[in-house]
Amino acid sequence: MGMNGDILQVLFSEEQLRQKCAELGARISRDYEGKNLLMVSVLKGSVVFMADLMRHITVPCSIDFMAVSSYGSGVKTSGVVKIIKDLDIDLAGRDILIVEDILDSGMTLTYLTELLRDRGPASIRIAALLDKPSRRRANVQPDYVGYVVPDEFVVGYGLDYDEKYRNLPYVGILKPAVYTR
Ligand code: IMP
Ligand code: MG
Repeated sequence: MGMNGDILQVLFSEEQLRQKCAELGARISRDYEGKNLLMVSVLKGSVVFMADLMRHITVPCSIDFMAVSSYGSGVKTSGVVKIIKDLDIDLAGRDILIVEDILDSGMTLTYLTELLRDRGPASIRIAALLDKPSRRRANVQPDYVGYVVPDEFVVGYGLDYDEKYRNLPYVGILKPAVYTR
């Protein structure tokens, strides 16, 4: 049964995700007409979303990658963030769109947004494929959201548990037995 057997329920299918990227890409393309768009992917969870979303952006844009890690492991976030890989591109005058897989407590993005704001970009917005507002601890809202999800641990389409399941083409709820055993 493999990875699929660890999934309690499929929340968003490959086809739904494809549709969602097209829809968000169209909105972002309208909003960034005449701007200086730089899409910043937060590794590693957002790579799949980034790769699909960027192909629906019809205005000129650059991409860059950043890797951060929140201290502590497992399914809870600690709010303390360490930069593992910084951006290569100068942010001055750029219209930054941070691309995230999921906005949970919001601690990671609050930290990141403040850090990037100090580098003089023209604007900063956030695109999150998934939003888990019930767990928010920081005052941060995504400007573009794919789906709002319940307080369950989800994997697939880039999202991992213990570095696994990122390659599932859909988003699904992980069986709690997988992370409690
Ligand atoms: P935040 O700082 O709590 O918003 O943490 C967001 C990060 O935690 C995401 O980028 C994910 O890497 C991870 N995360 C939060 N919830 C989930 C989940 O349900 N599945 C997989 N990763 C998650
Ligand atoms: Mg993760």
